[in-house]
Amino acid sequence: MSISVKNQTFTLSTNRTAYQMKVGAYNFLFHTYYGKKIDETDMSYLFSYQDVGFSGNPYDAGKDRTFSIDTLPLEYSSFGIGDFRGDCIQAELADGSSSIDFRYRSHKIYAGKYGLTDLPAMYGEESEWATLEMHLFDIKEEIELILYYGVMEKWDIITRACRLVNHTDNTVKLHRMLSACLDLPSGNYDMVTFYGRHARERNMERARLHHGIQGMESIRGASSHQYNPFVILCEPHADEEKGECYGMSFVYSGNFLAQAEVTQRNTSRLVMGIHPTRFLFTLEKGESFTAPEVILTYSAKGFHRLSSNYHKAVRNNLCRGKYKTARRPVLINNWEGTYFDFTDSLLLQIAEESAKLGIEMFVLDDGWFGKRNDDFSGLGDWYVNESKLKCGLKAFSEKIHDLGMQFGIWFEPEMVSEDSDLFRTHPDYVLNVPGRPGCRGRYQFVLDFSRKEVRDLVYEQMRKILDGARIDYIKWDMNRHLTNVWSAGLPAERQGEVYHRYVLGLYEFLERLHRDYPDLLLEGCCGGGGRFDAGMLYYTPQIWCSDNTDARERLFIQYGTSFGYPVSAVGSHVSASPNHQTGRECSLAARGAVAMAGTFGYELNVNQMTEEEKETVKKQITDYKRFYDLIQDGEYYRLSGPYGNTASGDTEGVCAWEFVSEDRTRALLFAVLTESQGNPVQKVIKLRGLNPESVYTRVDSKEFYTGTALMNGGILLPCAGGYCPAVCMEFTVRKE
Ligand code: DGJ
Repeated sequence: MSISVKNQTFTLSTNRTAYQMKVGAYNFLFHTYYGKKIDETDMSYLFSYQDVGFSGNPYDAGKDRTFSIDTLPLEYSSFGIGDFRGDCIQAELADGSSSIDFRYRSHKIYAGKYGLTDLPAMYGEESEWATLEMHLFDIKEEIELILYYGVMEKWDIITRACRLVNHTDNTVKLHRMLSACLDLPSGNYDMVTFYGRHARERNMERARLHHGIQGMESIRGASSHQYNPFVILCEPHADEEKGECYGMSFVYSGNFLAQAEVTQRNTSRLVMGIHPTRFLFTLEKGESFTAPEVILTYSAKGFHRLSSNYHKAVRNNLCRGKYKTARRPVLINNWEGTYFDFTDSLLLQIAEESAKLGIEMFVLDDGWFGKRNDDFSGLGDWYVNESKLKCGLKAFSEKIHDLGMQFGIWFEPEMVSEDSDLFRTHPDYVLNVPGRPGCRGRYQFVLDFSRKEVRDLVYEQMRKILDGARIDYIKWDMNRHLTNVWSAGLPAERQGEVYHRYVLGLYEFLERLHRDYPDLLLEGCCGGGGRFDAGMLYYTPQIWCSDNTDARERLFIQYGTSFGYPVSAVGSHVSASPNHQTGRECSLAARGAVAMAGTFGYELNVNQMTEEEKETVKKQITDYKRFYDLIQDGEYYRLSGPYGNTASGDTEGVCAWEFVSEDRTRALLFAVLTESQGNPVQKVIKLRGLNPESVYTRVDSKEFYTGTALMNGGILLPCAGGYCPAVCMEFTVRKE
């Protein structure tokens, strides 16, 4: 068992890491260690006890002024009782007070992974996981806090979540309840975060932690394009291969807070959870609140190991359904090919040509339903627009299948247009404050998904569509964030629950789809990657990464995304050049290479391509199918980032990444040369993860290199000209 208990010290061990806590003086639960694997030594010998001014002492400590929970590392911090650092929980009791002082009462350890009701969470075989539950109670009231820890040895994963149970006869009002808290003995870290905007998501940013509070958050009702709910703390010298790194990824798709703090004592605290803004949950006797899961991992050897842990854990133990393992079809999406301007015959022409090129699925994007000819109208009316699809959806889907392709379709279930039958019939179904005009986003309103009757109405419409045609895939879009959040389904005093209940409603809807249509491939989307988080990946194993399909820009977006999320989650397509978002030209080779670091598909009108381009597309698809397992299941290495950052060598102007098979007999190198130079200088890329002793054949040239040569000397990239040339080199171990 990966959890051991000795003298009330709990050591959670994974293959390479250990996480430790201890029930210490006065039954406080202290955090004693997180880092490289150690034995069961009680690490609290490192605690420093000093009389620190203005850091008070719990009453139990008597006259001992050296014992303060303001200076000691805790597993979970509560407001109002003497820890003045950023806290995890703030609650209001019946007498108006807000001090809850949790102390250890009992614990449970069992094989397998705890589950969370109505919330996404990691899962797996009983043999893969161990669970620790710590049961803490307030010293005065019967208010219980259960801290959940999941331990997965294989991928060095520790998960955390918690639940507050009100066993008192009175009401408890919860104003803040975060999911995880990590107190570290040093404040000397960089924080790596992923910020962005629509069409430019998850740019990596790294900054030294400073005293005080810093962090990332969303109060948009979705995890957002702007700030991703995934953060890393790392040593200042950390890079891909060295330095300690701690990651936290939130398994949640709504408002969040990820906050780091360097304290007066130069220690640090990282907390993560639902954002407390406009959060107020009322718990009556016997009721409980569960804070969503956070996935933690630690790497003693830089970002690569950290990302690799997340890639494997998310892909194998968070994503679900048939397409977790089944090969995803190479698709063509008509959005950038036609936008709203299509008829069934135009789409069929595109589909016919696509089938000839080897494309396996046709995805019909926005505009097929209601009176949807632009983005002013139609959302909420999920019945076929027969002026565009004259043959009807059933016949259309069959025609696609007759071409030997699967068929996918776009929905935006959470939204409604003012100009729609749904809005005309149920104007009260939107999230809005009565008597206020509200706020449009892309001309649309948000349906109140916290209400079951609203979800049921949309689900019923979707069900008719799904049952009435041959549909293999759904793209689930969301094209605005939440404002004027007020629900007709809850009384005034419970309006602080709406943001979270909205997310729970979304999850309930997606769970229904999973249950009723287990073979559907679901792709998440929120105007591209505005809800790209571990919560959504529990329901949708892939997410459209960005509305920006420019391969050059995608290098930044996909680079940032790769830190916390696997390639199998990254929706990525080859689109037309010049690109529609940036006007930039880019070679088909680079567009293909970048899209292959994802789920791979096309998003253009193939009938507008030249014969030569079509031949390239055919080859790309054949290659992709051949490389599929290597790309999806292989070890992913960032060799050189788009910011000019690299482990070694002169790779300015080269963005390169690599996939290596688990047995290290195959490797695939992709490089995009992002700068066009006159008289270009040579560029050398060093591969990683190979077997140093093996001899590898470069498949295209039949040249041989040892693993050690490729990893230490590298490989010369051809100095090709043109717009963003790209290189793809396959290496296989030479058979003796
Ligand atoms: C935003 C998505 O990200 C696009 O791919 C496309 O589906 C549009 N919405 C359609 O409105």
